[in-house]
Amino acid sequence: MVISTGKNDNGLKLYDPGYLNTAPVISRISYIDGDAGILRYRGFPIEELAEKSTFTEVSYLIMYGNLPSESQLAAWEFNISQHSAVPQGVLDIIQAMPHDAHPMGMLVNAMSALSVYHPDANPALKGLDIYNSKQVRDKQIARIIGKITTIAAAINLRLAGRPPVLPSNELSYTENFLYMLDSFGNRSYKPNPRLTRALDIIFILHAEHEMNCSTSAVRHLSSSGVDVYTAVAGAIGALYGPLHGGANEAVLKMLSEIGTVENIPAFIEGVKARKRKLSGFGHRVYKNYDPRAKVLRKLTEEVFSIVGRDPLIEIAVALEKIALSDEYFIKRKLYPNVDFYSGLIYRAMGFQPEFFTILFAIPRMAGYLAHWRESLDDPDTKIMRPQQVYVGEWLRHYTPINQRTVSGNTDKLGQLAVSNASKRRLAGSGA
Ligand code: ACO
Repeated sequence: MVISTGKNDNGLKLYDPGYLNTAPVISRISYIDGDAGILRYRGFPIEELAEKSTFTEVSYLIMYGNLPSESQLAAWEFNISQHSAVPQGVLDIIQAMPHDAHPMGMLVNAMSALSVYHPDANPALKGLDIYNSKQVRDKQIARIIGKITTIAAAINLRLAGRPPVLPSNELSYTENFLYMLDSFGNRSYKPNPRLTRALDIIFILHAEHEMNCSTSAVRHLSSSGVDVYTAVAGAIGALYGPLHGGANEAVLKMLSEIGTVENIPAFIEGVKARKRKLSGFGHRVYKNYDPRAKVLRKLTEEVFSIVGRDPLIEIAVALEKIALSDEYFIKRKLYPNVDFYSGLIYRAMGFQPEFFTILFAIPRMAGYLAHWRESLDDPDTKIMRPQQVYVGEWLRHYTPINQRTVSGNTDKLGQLAVSNASKRRLAGSGA
């Protein structure tokens, strides 16, 4: 839609909080029909990929547009595994962080540190045109996908007070991740193949989801020409939030808080009275059952059959049933999203709730990098710079400080803190 008459005409400005109706990019990577509950990567239905494919194959598809041939897949997997070692300095940074740090905060730091360890990929040092080289781009893609599992495992081990384990390039991508977590460095350790497959399916489901909060953050940051590691670190920061990737952790906490099926009606009343949100429900785009949640619900049974049933599943299933038959949720088209069941699977697999969003972040690197790559080739890419609607003071003139009065709208708590701080300073000055 043309909303201006020419280059120098600012034209019509749309006030669109949360960008509900703003499409800043044209993309060929994934398609969502939120009303019908459809998600496709490069045209392939998510259910079909979850059933038949693997995460590495899907990440190739997302990145390059087509399913790989046998030799392309072998080369892709080899390349990723060749880049799975992480610079010692980044491992040292992880070790230096507090033992009670949030893993996502650690991941933001580690990803951002990779930027300084790879100056060869930094447009600020090497010039904006370095990313015109497909070779340079592909190297950063393989580096990030290769290193993310090693970094994630090192974070998990750090929080458990254990040293990092070197990756093994004899194992598949997901198998190697579980190996680094559980092997204690024993090279002959092999993760359970059924659990490996379950996690691989979860990785497929989380690999890409068009212009969500964190993917649009990658596009936003990289539009300034910043290096890809910094752009991805910013996106991980966005994913950290409890309204986005952090919701799976919030779901588990919520289910534990509810405690028993009998407590659900009172909890639902609290949600309807807006005392809190029903975590894992609702979505900006899906106004129907999130197709990923359907696959995950089935997968919970598979995982429970291996490691035992989690009693919280009964609360989750009953909560879903009650919510889906309640007018409040029906009217607002609120259905379970991808985070509603994923946390239960992660917990059953032995992951701490704080680590859940990391398990989301690992596969989402594929989506972030596919969008980064697409944006580099798009002739329409411009530095992202939204407009605002200014409603502040129009024009004022400077008054010297001794002629100012305390203005009416100054924050009262702020004033108190300032005056208490000056009393403290005066008391201690000795002047
Ligand atoms: N519980 C209770 N009410 C809800 C919920 C919920 N989970 N989600 C939305 N609503 C209500 C809102 O209060 C609003 O009601 P109103 O119209 O009476 O004011 C209405 O439904 C529309 O909701 P919005 O907040 O306008 O929807 P929006 O698209 O902005 O938000 C979001 C989407 C953030 C995901 C929201 O549904 C939510 O907070 N859900 C819980 C957190 C969650 O599960 N996040 C994970 C999302 S999936 C992901 O990011 C991977």
